Amino acid sequence: MKILLFGALGQVGFELQRALVGLGQVIPCQRSQLDLEDLDKLENYIRKINPTIIINAAAYTLVDKAEANITLAEKINALAPEVMAKVARDLDALLVHYSTDYVFNGAQTKPYLESDIPAPLNVYGKTKLQGEDLIRKTNCRHLILRTSWVYAAHGHNFARTILNLALQQGSLTIVGDQIGAPTSAELIADITALLLYRLQWDAAFKDFQGDTFNLTAQGSTSWYGFARHLIMYAKPIGAVLKVTPDKITAISTAQYPTPAKRPHNSLLDTGKIRAKFNLELPSWQWHADRFLSQHYISKGQTV
Ligand SMILES: NC(=O)c1ccc[n+]([C@@H]2O[C@H](COP(=O)([O-])OP(=O)(O)OC[C@H]3O[C@@H](n4cnc5c(N)ncnc54)[C@H](OP(=O)(O)O)[C@@H]3O)[C@@H](O)[C@H]2O)c1
Repeated sequence: MKILLFGALGQVGFELQRALVGLGQVIPCQRSQLDLEDLDKLENYIRKINPTIIINAAAYTLVDKAEANITLAEKINALAPEVMAKVARDLDALLVHYSTDYVFNGAQTKPYLESDIPAPLNVYGKTKLQGEDLIRKTNCRHLILRTSWVYAAHGHNFARTILNLALQQGSLTIVGDQIGAPTSAELIADITALLLYRLQWDAAFKDFQGDTFNLTAQGSTSWYGFARHLIMYAKPIGAVLKVTPDKITAISTAQYPTPAKRPHNSLLDTGKIRAKFNLELPSWQWHADRFLSQHYISKGQTV
């Protein structure tokens, strides 16, 4: 089974390279091999490989920069996935695609269901939603996984930024009125592999044509709560930081203006994926603690 993986060096893509081993022949593709801006090249590239599964972990994820780069964000987040979907349909391949909590406006007080009406607040969210819709329209076999607040030991993310700032600053101010579930790229990759195994080999899924699922860790916190947790648990594993948890102050979104608006509630209800695939999802703290060990071991700072 050939699995073509786009965005192979991103947070999720990098973890997928590990998690998919054993499922089939993984063909990782990164920007230096193929720029997704070239939609014709993209189509020819996929046809030439003729994969059984296409996984799209690539995306234009620069949320603030997207506000000024609408055309590029649309190309990478919507038009490139559409090309992948059309070729997937022609080749009878399964397309796995990742989307985001940012398709919602965050005004709801409870976690969002897959069936709730999207209303993105920013360009990134709009283009990701457009990508989802274009994929569904092609009628290819697809699995759309919406996730949130992604972090990993590799790549650019909030968790790594906080730990780096904590080495330099004695205090931090962090937004406390946006809530979500920090979700490790490892979890996303591991669950993706599990779903693919079920979809390919489990007779119960032989008629699966396409669906959208929320996939995040369990529980909820704010960016402030996440930062406090990281700092609190970094110390016992040997990190030498300038900041202590009591020197982290919660501020409001209004006190931290950004070019792109962000939802106050990023929580996604994961009941559907847990029921459909009979699986459990860990609390967000489980992978956060694992991430801390990986972060400091890789930097040689653990005692
Ligand atoms: N990060 C989050 O907090 C978050 C939250 C919710 C949903 N998601 C979704 O989860 C998925 C994975 O996100 P992630 O955090 O792993 O993203 P990421 O770390 O930013 O990785 C995205 C990858 O896409 C590649 N890419 C971007 N533009 C490209 C282009 N023109 N041609 C080829 N490759 C290109 C990047 O390549 P370069 O390294 O060369 O730039 C990078 O490897 C995405 O669909 C994202 O929308 C992410």
